[in-house]
Amino acid sequence: MVYDNVVLIGFMGSGKTTVGKVLARKLLKEFKDVDTIIEKEQNKSVSEIFQEKGEEYFRALEQKCIYELTKRSGQVIATGGGLPIYSHIPDKSLIVYINADFDVILKRLPKKERDKRPLLEDESKARTLFRERIGRYEELATFSVDANQSVATFIHVIADFILDKRVL
Ligand code: S3P
Repeated sequence: MVYDNVVLIGFMGSGKTTVGKVLARKLLKEFKDVDTIIEKEQNKSVSEIFQEKGEEYFRALEQKCIYELTKRSGQVIATGGGLPIYSHIPDKSLIVYINADFDVILKRLPKKERDKRPLLEDESKARTLFRERIGRYEELATFSVDANQSVATFIHVIADFILDKRVL
């Protein structure tokens, strides 16, 4: 199987954006972040879009964004935690699941980062969401990486997998 792009999936705050930037640099690929693209296009933060237009509207923007992005190849793409739940990730994407435990994520996320995420406001609801979603992440993943350690520790595991398979 030849893949066009690397797509990073995982729960909110698991480190997809940080991993994506480092990975793209290592692989000499372009880095794209779905949330950032949507925010730029809409000229609003994700929280504002949720508040003003609702979650369904945001999900439609995500689907359009990943569809448009994957028309091109050779990119490392970080997705929002809900994208693989509500949108189809086009075939020929190598999907890497950034697999971190809920408590690790919470501990790692500064308040400023938590506040950016409307679905993290209520911790017990977010924990339930986590439990509901992990099965889907696992099912979709071409490769799953234990992300309970620092990015510096596991980034080479992902890079080696991709380079070994010569998938991109
Ligand atoms: C969401 C995750 C967020 C962002 C939005 C919704 C989700 O992205 O897309 O707040 O449903 O899990 P991150 O995964 O980058 O936090």
